[in-house]
Amino acid sequence: MSNRTGRARARGTQDIESLLQEKRVFKPDAAFAKQANWKRGTLAEYRDLAERSPQRFWAKMAREHVDWFAPWKRVLDWKPPFAKWFVGGKLNVSYNCLDRHLLGEDAWRRNKAAIIWEGEPGETRVITYGQLHREVCKFANVLKELGVRKGDRIALYMPMIPELAIAMLACTRIGAPHSVVFGGFSAEALRDRILDVGATFVVTADGGYRRGKAHALKPAVDEALDGIDAVSHVVIVRRTGQKINFEAGRDLWWHDLMERASADCKPAKLDAEHPLFVLYTSGSTGKPKGILHTTGGYLTYVTVTAKAIFDLKEEDTYWCTADIGWITGHSYVVYGILANGATTFMYEGVPTHPRPDRFWDIIERHQITIFYTAPTAIRTFIRLGEEHPKKHDLSTLRLLGTVGEPINPEAWMWYHRVIGRKRCPIVDTWWQTETGGILITPIPGVVSTKPGSATLPFPGIEPDVFDEEGRSVRPPNGGFLVIKKPWPGMLRGIWGDDARYVEQYWKRYRNVYFAGDGAHRDKQGNFWIMGRIDDVMNISGHRIGTMELESALVSHAKVAEAAVVGRPDEITGTAIVAFVTPVSGANIGGDLRNELREHVSKQIGAIAKPKDIHFTDALPKTRSGKIMRRLLRAIASGDERVGDTSTLEDYSVLARLREAEEG
Ligand code: PRX
Repeated sequence: MSNRTGRARARGTQDIESLLQEKRVFKPDAAFAKQANWKRGTLAEYRDLAERSPQRFWAKMAREHVDWFAPWKRVLDWKPPFAKWFVGGKLNVSYNCLDRHLLGEDAWRRNKAAIIWEGEPGETRVITYGQLHREVCKFANVLKELGVRKGDRIALYMPMIPELAIAMLACTRIGAPHSVVFGGFSAEALRDRILDVGATFVVTADGGYRRGKAHALKPAVDEALDGIDAVSHVVIVRRTGQKINFEAGRDLWWHDLMERASADCKPAKLDAEHPLFVLYTSGSTGKPKGILHTTGGYLTYVTVTAKAIFDLKEEDTYWCTADIGWITGHSYVVYGILANGATTFMYEGVPTHPRPDRFWDIIERHQITIFYTAPTAIRTFIRLGEEHPKKHDLSTLRLLGTVGEPINPEAWMWYHRVIGRKRCPIVDTWWQTETGGILITPIPGVVSTKPGSATLPFPGIEPDVFDEEGRSVRPPNGGFLVIKKPWPGMLRGIWGDDARYVEQYWKRYRNVYFAGDGAHRDKQGNFWIMGRIDDVMNISGHRIGTMELESALVSHAKVAEAAVVGRPDEITGTAIVAFVTPVSGANIGGDLRNELREHVSKQIGAIAKPKDIHFTDALPKTRSGKIMRRLLRAIASGDERVGDTSTLEDYSVLARLREAEEG
């Protein structure tokens, strides 16, 4: 029996129609609630304060979660759409992530693990707060000696190794904004980013381990820097020991420099609005956008959200599986976790190496207590089969999280049942590179959850759902997700392109942040994110979120993963094309196509029936796990020109999809 009833509502084409109805509700567990960092009373008090005076609320959060060298003069200077938070305040991020844990009554943390790291080949390293502080100070001195000055931009192109976190923190210590470029990006992508941000230093490694092999990074750096004279030095961590090209005068080994460096480095007293980092994210068109985050507001935001949402405790071993090359890694592998003095676990490699149970094996061996991952990973695990997690003792887990895309209710239920063993609250956290930290999420221990809903805004955050004209849409109708008030973690701009910043986020609705996602609210005020609006299809005048179709498909017992795109259709405007990965062993004979069409029709309505269904053993994904719908759209409409594929994780998927199409 399905717990959802499908119904299509006939309404104006302005609305994004929401066709899935999820009825299951999970109340917070009483035992969890009792020990939670934020209890019902805390949340009520904060919501109340934030409603009466957002500025007083954020000031309280900034005072309680961050150490300041000098207090701010004004909480917020808002000249829409440009915000300055904690104006005049002085602080240092590395001081907040390290030094303060070594002082006064917190000094016992000196020997607490800050980072526990596991390499893909299996070796582990534990770095205490005392050691991390030392390494960061040393690398900050290395940078200074190489001539890095406050404000200089440093590109970091590295594998998931502790040196990446050390380099980031060292940058923050001296006020040199970093720009981390995900290690899976091509030389061309790296070059574009180095040029756009105007980086003068690069930190990299010879390579890293993925799928049992050493993959090289240094050749991409060499290629990227070809003809760029502005980059004076490249510092290289020796990770794999593979042979590299070494350019005398420019290239330097990390270990040589660190051997000579002093461990004494005072943290720079930086302005609250000093640029902290630039992180590139793809727009719907054109070149990537360099999202700028600054110091005081960002640190306040990630620290308080990490504490409240992940319920971080001293004794936790917290694991976020995101690569540091993405915003999730910045905010919730490094800054938000270390600022709380918690232990962050880092893993270098792929989830299925050398066996499909690597993640569960890690959780068991390292006794992970909090696990934060992406729906795409969860769907992969569903496909691999429950026998893998079932082999392991996952009883240390006490909280689960998801991020990055809407989670299909069936995947949520699997996560709850198979990984959480029905004991762990799940926080489905909605946010973006631009938002700096989590904006919509359950507070575990207080907020009831519904599979597929990110539930409620964090205190002080005021989201709404707008129609085309900027009118708030009444629940349960759908529309465009907006944020109506500035918040400390918000982006401060697009690097070097104020016009694009205004155009992209603030033009559609005056002085209101346009997130680019479709959403609807239910009667209880829970938010249901329907994905990017460019993933929304218009079928016979009805807008249908691809995510809802995918959820419907995935709720079929024989489907592990599904992606849905539109292709032009003479009659309906757009025809729905589904790419389906069946569970292993499923018989995909002709009947399954019909079965799935009927299933979707039953779940959502006849209008949502996919016209074409392609079976495939894998979907094309970016290295961050997002399905590349652009490619699927091209395949669905028989277009040979698939455009830029430089961010595709596995090229062979494309060829196999093509073959399936022809065969
Ligand atoms: O569409 C939303 C989706 O991911 C987008 C942001 O992507 P990015 O900047 O790469 O950051 C991802 C990690 C924060 C959003 O516009 N998204 C993110 N989290 C969720 C989500 N969609 C639904 N539910 C979520 N929990």
